[in-house]
Amino acid sequence: MAKEKEKKREDNRRIFSGIQPSGRLHIGNYLGAIKNWLTLQDDFDCIWGIVDYHAITVRYEPKELEDRVIDCAASYLACGLDPEKSILMLQSTVKEHTELAWILNTVTPVSWLERVPTFKDKSRQHSSNVNMGLMDYPVLMAADILLYKANYVPVGEDQLPHLELSREIVRRFNHRFKEEVFPEPKDIISSGANVKGLDGKNKMSKSLNNCIFLEDSKEDIWKKLSTAVTDPQRVRKNDPGRPEVCNIFSLHKLFSEEDKIEYVKKGCKAGSIGCLECKKILAENINKELSPIRDKINEYKNKPDYIKDILWDGKKKSEKIARETMKEVYNSIGKQYKFLE
Ligand code: TYM
Repeated sequence: MAKEKEKKREDNRRIFSGIQPSGRLHIGNYLGAIKNWLTLQDDFDCIWGIVDYHAITVRYEPKELEDRVIDCAASYLACGLDPEKSILMLQSTVKEHTELAWILNTVTPVSWLERVPTFKDKSRQHSSNVNMGLMDYPVLMAADILLYKANYVPVGEDQLPHLELSREIVRRFNHRFKEEVFPEPKDIISSGANVKGLDGKNKMSKSLNNCIFLEDSKEDIWKKLSTAVTDPQRVRKNDPGRPEVCNIFSLHKLFSEEDKIEYVKKGCKAGSIGCLECKKILAENINKELSPIRDKINEYKNKPDYIKDILWDGKKKSEKIARETMKEVYNSIGKQYKFLE
């Protein structure tokens, strides 16, 4: 059985995932993605991308992009992603990402992209800038994954429609060119795959101003939590609460130890502890987990040369895999022009 498991791992080893450098990383990125990546980097061949071409599909400040990339890389390292174990890379440094995206565009019906929920949401949020990149975003994401023939993609729940689309693109491509070039990538979802924002309603998201950032100080964390939405039915301190509908309780489940979770659950239901006490315990626990990460982010941000070396190394390693895949792709689509050799 153990051998079988080992064999399966050997056959299905490759993982790709990425985060857009569109601002500082928040605890949704950490719990939905990075924390899960840490558990995978020992057992699989992992490639962790900083997907900067995705980040420019919405309005952004060009002067800030470089700092955001450095910030994202520093956060990856500070959380514990190890460049000795996996590849850390910057998407735009491997030109095959956009090249493959173009080829995949030719097998992707426009109607598939029009129905993607994030495209609809983003078109509403950025109504003055509904550009082709915004619509084509999931095809570039499919290219990121397929370029490395990744078998698994660990992501938060919001990315599941994109992954489904990647699988549809794989089926289309393999069927159209009568070759099994790409495997169908599967998702890996963690318990923190859908972290709600401090408004208690929407997904935690940089664009909604409802985040706790990895770099937030102890004071910032408390300031944000103290005004965060709890069970709306609980008006007075002694009203019995409903932990099952309270976002603060969901966060306890992700940051607190078993005995504290039980304590706040019972106390909330009985009305014996108030929301403020519950939030204070949570603030302590979030700070306990984030404080070493915060310190390391600051350390790494002050070592841009170290980050540069890691990303250069990542570029070389990913390029090697990417070029092999592209050879197969050119063959399949008939672009292995012999007369030019
Ligand atoms: P992005 O940059 O929006 O988010 C990065 C990762 O963080 C997860 N995430 C969350 N998880 C739980 N709760 C939340 N509130 C929350 N907010 C964000 C996301 O699910 C994601 O895993 N399209 C992707 C980036 C991408 C990518 C890829 C991912 C580009 N190419 C290839 C995987 C494979 C995105 O916009 O993620």
